[in-house]
Amino acid sequence: MELTSLLIYIGIFITLFLLAILISDGDLTLMFAERFGKRLSSVKGQVYWIVGASSGIGEYLAYELVANGAKVVLSGRRENELQKVKAQCLIIGKKSGISEADVLLLPVDVAKLELHQQYFDAVLKHFGTLDVLVNNAGRSQRAEWMNIDIRVDKDMFDGNVFGLLNLSRIVMPHFLQKKRGQIAVTSSVCGKVGAPCSASYNATKHALHGYFETLRAELTTQGISVTMLCPGPVFSDLLSACATDTYGQKLGGAMTKKDRRMSTERCARLCAVAMVNHLDEAWISINPVLLSLYASQYAPSLFRSFNGRLGARVAMTLRDSRNDLVNSCKQDSQQVKSD
Ligand SMILES: NC(=O)c1ccc[n+]([C@@H]2O[C@H](COP(=O)([O-])OP(=O)(O)OC[C@H]3O[C@@H](n4cnc5c(N)ncnc54)[C@H](OP(=O)(O)O)[C@@H]3O)[C@@H](O)[C@H]2O)c1
Repeated sequence: MELTSLLIYIGIFITLFLLAILISDGDLTLMFAERFGKRLSSVKGQVYWIVGASSGIGEYLAYELVANGAKVVLSGRRENELQKVKAQCLIIGKKSGISEADVLLLPVDVAKLELHQQYFDAVLKHFGTLDVLVNNAGRSQRAEWMNIDIRVDKDMFDGNVFGLLNLSRIVMPHFLQKKRGQIAVTSSVCGKVGAPCSASYNATKHALHGYFETLRAELTTQGISVTMLCPGPVFSDLLSACATDTYGQKLGGAMTKKDRRMSTERCARLCAVAMVNHLDEAWISINPVLLSLYASQYAPSLFRSFNGRLGARVAMTLRDSRNDLVNSCKQDSQQVKSD
């Protein structure tokens, strides 16, 4: 083949690849699995424990699962919210034969490690088994790297990492005894790149990859599968309990309808597709965030150099799709003004 023809074929391939990414809201393996993979109906009768089911992605994941006949354990700290989610699950799950006994409400604080065995015993007492643990609980952050109180970092790791890690270790003997079990972990695009103004949060999400990918490497031959879910911006309650740089402080923010984010339903559906197809990792995001994730993975230095030129303010605006939250990056905004 002539060099010119080869270059034309490569050009066409790259153009089609970029177009496919631009019209997708998930990585291409996930999109393929959604179209041609295992159907969601395969969850029927399986027991899913969703830790972080009281709002947002976990709440809608519960709806997706019960709609397809799965039994669910709903956990989180806010019992009132869990009650509402349970009521909705019973309505949605009715067509699939879901009844009161198939939806267990189990209030859980993942940061309370000493109670983890007790929580899991309650799951086993009710259902007698567990098939999938969904480690979805998490808290975001808006803060400048320079100013973060180290107690905030520790606090974020306690909830976002150590709580989920310990719970998974408690559940693992049960999975190993059955020779089958799945752990799904809600990481984030921030678990793959260092998005500005969320250092502790990004670090917790990166840490989840370290812990759970090692688990996969060690136990995959013993029937254990691990699915890392990496959403980009999604509508949820995430900004309200969001941490700042100050210990004990909450951002108390809220998303607005005008924000550019993926719908919670769509994100939950793609999470469910990734789980039933046992994908090792799934990227779930609208563009340009999805495209930037591809760039960071396949052209790491180029992506970082490009990002560096854009500056933190632009990256923050892309992430939150509005300007008010960008003020958490004061240092950068001052720099921009003085430039
Ligand atoms: N929304 C996004 O743009 C986005 C993007 C990437 C990744 N994520 C990740 O997606 C996951 C779900 O977040 P979301 O966006 O759906 O936000 P959300 O609506 O705030 O949901 C967070 C869930 O985590 C639970 N949770 C937090 N701390 C907990 C604790 N100590 N113990 C037990 N449960 C706890 C919350 O329940 P209680 O408050 O009732 O305890 C709630 O159910 C998080 O891990 C988040 O990092 C979200």
